[in-house]
Amino acid sequence: MNPRGPEEATDPEEDAAPSLGGGSVTSAESGALERAAEAALRPRRLDEFVGQQVVREQLSLVLDAATGRGRPPEHVLLSGPPGLGKTTLAMIIAGELNAPLRITSGPAIQHAGDLAAILSSLEEGEVLFIDEVHRLARPAEEMLYIAMEDFRVDVVVGKGVGATSIPLELPPFTAVGATTRAGLLPAPLRDRFGFVGHLDYYRPAELHEVVARSAVRLGVPLASEAAAEIAGRSRGTPRIANRLLRRVRDWAQVRGSGQLDLAAARAALEVYEVDESGLDRLDRGVLQALCTRFGGGPVGLSTLAVSVGEETETVETMVEPYLVREGFLTRTPRGRMATSLAWEHLGLAEPDPVRGATAPLGRF
Ligand SMILES: Nc1ncnc2c1ncn2[C@@H]1O[C@H](COP(=O)(O)OP(=O)(O)OP(=O)(O)O)[C@@H](O)[C@H]1O
Ligand SMILES: [Mg+2]
Repeated sequence: MNPRGPEEATDPEEDAAPSLGGGSVTSAESGALERAAEAALRPRRLDEFVGQQVVREQLSLVLDAATGRGRPPEHVLLSGPPGLGKTTLAMIIAGELNAPLRITSGPAIQHAGDLAAILSSLEEGEVLFIDEVHRLARPAEEMLYIAMEDFRVDVVVGKGVGATSIPLELPPFTAVGATTRAGLLPAPLRDRFGFVGHLDYYRPAELHEVVARSAVRLGVPLASEAAAEIAGRSRGTPRIANRLLRRVRDWAQVRGSGQLDLAAARAALEVYEVDESGLDRLDRGVLQALCTRFGGGPVGLSTLAVSVGEETETVETMVEPYLVREGFLTRTPRGRMATSLAWEHLGLAEPDPVRGATAPLGRF
C-alpha cells in the first residue's frame, strides 16, 4: 500500500483550516484547548438539543422505530457548517440507543487497515462515529461501503503474492458520519446512509436557549437580556454562543460584580471586539477596506485580502461567508462589492446610492 496515498487524497486547504480557526472568538471552528470546555456543555439527550426541529423529529422517529424493532437503526449522515451540533448529535444517538460509541475521523484513518481494525472490533449495535467523513482515503472509503451495506470486511492477511483476503462478518452496527462538505462526499458513500440530516444556522431565540442552558450547567447566573445580547452576536452558531458566554463570564468575574447582566455582556463583547451583528475586527477591517479604499468595489478577492494583510484563503473561508450571508457583501463577476447595509453598519455615507446592494444587478 502506498503510504502517501491517503495524504494525497486529502484537501490541503482543509488541513490549513483548523489552525486558522481556534484563534478568533468568532471562529466557528474549535481550538484544541476548547474541546474540554465544549464537552462539558454538550446536551446528552435529544430533548435537550435545542432547535433543528426537523432533523430532531426525523431522527427521533428513526431511533424510536429501530428501538421498537430491537435492531440498530440505519446509518446516519449529519451535514452542516462547523459548530452547529453534528458531534453532539452523534453522541446523543449513541446515548438514546444506550449503545457504545466509537469515535474516529476521516483524517485519522490513514490506511484501509486502520478502518479494518476498527470495524472488526465493533460490538453488536455499536455506534461508529466518523467525523469529517469526506476526508476518508479512497481505499478506506471502499471498505466502508461494503461494511455499511453487507456488514462484512475483507481482511488482507500476508503481503505480496502470498496475500489472501479473508471475509469477516461484522455484527450489525450504525455508522454516523459527519461532514461540513456534503458536496465532496462521493455519491456511492452518501447513498449508503439511510438518513441524512442537514443542520442549519440557529435563530437568535434558539441561541438564547442554548446559552441559558449552558449558564445553568456552568453554574453562573445569566440575565435574560445578557443571553439575548450574546445570542444576537453569535453568528447563528451554538459553538460561538457558548464561547462568548465563557468570555462574558470571565469579564463578570474579573472586572464586574460576578453578575452576568446586560452591562457585563456588552462590556465583555466590546473587549473581544465582537459587534452587535457578530462581526469581529477582521470582518470590519475587510468591510472598511472595501468601502474606504475601493469605494465599495467591485474589487478582486486577493487585492482585498492584501489590503487587510491577510491570506486570500482566510478572507475567503473565514470572513466572506458570514458577510455574504448577512448581506454586507456581494460577489459579482467583477469582484466583491459592499452593500448599502455595509455602509450603514460602518456609519459611512454611501457615495452613490445607485451602486448599492441590489442596484448593480438591475443594470445588466
Ligand atoms: N442544538 C444544540 N443545543 C445545545 N448546544 C449545542 C447544540 N448544537 C451545538 N451545541 C453546542 O455547540 C458546541 C459545538 O457543537 P458540536 O461540536 O456538536 O459541533 P459540530 O457540528 O460537530 O462542529 P464541527 O463541524 O466543528 O465538528 C458544543 O459545545 C455543543 O454543546
Ligand atoms: Mg464535530
